[in-house]
Amino acid sequence: MNVLVAGGAGYIGSVLVPALLDKGHKVVVVDRLFFGNPYAGDTSGKLVVVRGDIRTFDARVFREHAIDGVIDVSGISNDPSCELEPELTRSVNVDGGKRLASLALAAGVKRFVYSSSCSVYGHGEGLGLTETSGRHPVSLYARAKAEMEDVLFEMHRHTKSFEVVALRLATVYGLSPRMRFDLAINVMTKNAYVGRKITVDGGGRQWRPFVHVRDVAEAFITALTAEGKKVAGEIFNVGSTQNNVQILNLAFRVRDAIPGTEVTHAPTDPDLRDYNVAFEKIQQQLGFVCRRTLDDGIREVLAALKDGLVDPDDRRWYTLRQYLFLREAEHAMRDMAIDQRLLTTGMTEGPSPGEVSEMTVPATPVSLRR
Ligand SMILES: NC(=O)c1ccc[n+]([C@@H]2O[C@H](COP(=O)([O-])OP(=O)(O)OC[C@H]3O[C@@H](n4cnc5c(N)ncnc54)[C@H](O)[C@@H]3O)[C@@H](O)[C@H]2O)c1
Repeated sequence: MNVLVAGGAGYIGSVLVPALLDKGHKVVVVDRLFFGNPYAGDTSGKLVVVRGDIRTFDARVFREHAIDGVIDVSGISNDPSCELEPELTRSVNVDGGKRLASLALAAGVKRFVYSSSCSVYGHGEGLGLTETSGRHPVSLYARAKAEMEDVLFEMHRHTKSFEVVALRLATVYGLSPRMRFDLAINVMTKNAYVGRKITVDGGGRQWRPFVHVRDVAEAFITALTAEGKKVAGEIFNVGSTQNNVQILNLAFRVRDAIPGTEVTHAPTDPDLRDYNVAFEKIQQQLGFVCRRTLDDGIREVLAALKDGLVDPDDRRWYTLRQYLFLREAEHAMRDMAIDQRLLTTGMTEGPSPGEVSEMTVPATPVSLRR
């Protein structure tokens, strides 16, 4: 297939895209590259990277590349980053998502797979929440996910040939070229390794399901390529029952992997996000099973830290920090730049060419807004 992956340079995207290429698909990534470009050295010949914004990128991309499937893994991807600027969050996570889906529909794309989240269950009612359980999102991030699900399924109800699938992902863990040390398992492993200390927020009794990033990539490919009648208009929880854990127990598991680690409680209010999720539907309907355990993830992140393969201090691996940095940079450009430059004078060389296979290097600085 010819697949457009929005947000394909992110934590999930940069594991998913190589997996799609391995399976013989052609891929067009549309991404702001807020966390860098993991494809700079790509030689597959089957990948095009467009540095673009889902709210504004050129719709001709769909026809130029004969796109027949879209996977949307773009957007502002955690609670604190979404709270930073609620209007911006709406504009990216809801308006941008709607635009992407409308363009796909208009271009005759057959399959659209959306990255929703188990966080739509929010303050879950009981254990083993299924796709038909009530949604009780408790954050702006999760409310935007719930709203996008509704928008997409409404589009599918109107146009049945537009096959929408929503994957409600558990919290993801494991290594990725765009690392995230703000996801529970990754950050606990990093904190235990670097400082021999894990701080548990929100009481620790709250349930969370987890899923390995490579299992997530496989789930997206399954949803993209499964028979239409099995997936069109469907929601699937993505994770595994045995990977539902209470946060304190998770901290103890990480502590056991890294001797000498102390587990302490932060003096915070109880976490309202508390959900224990059932994952039978994706197995029964699509035969999909997650293969990686929590301990696999802890081990691989720990090994990468020990081997120096990932820098725990890189700002880009902390979503909120990177968005704060970009916001500051945008303010500095606005307030201090002369000829769109801060320290140099405009007499130096321009940006180095060929960094990505196709992109428009903007004359204006990268802006969070557009
Ligand atoms: N990681 C998880 O645990 C998890 C769990 C459930 C759902 N999700 C969802 O899956 C998706 C991917 O998550 P992730 O962990 O890879 O996040 P991420 O932040 O690493 O990736 C998001 C990507 O989207 C890009 N992006 C942001 N705004 C954009 C815009 N306006 N236009 C184009 N590109 C833009 C960023 O540059 C980034 O590369 C997100 O929608 C997230 O909400 C993630």
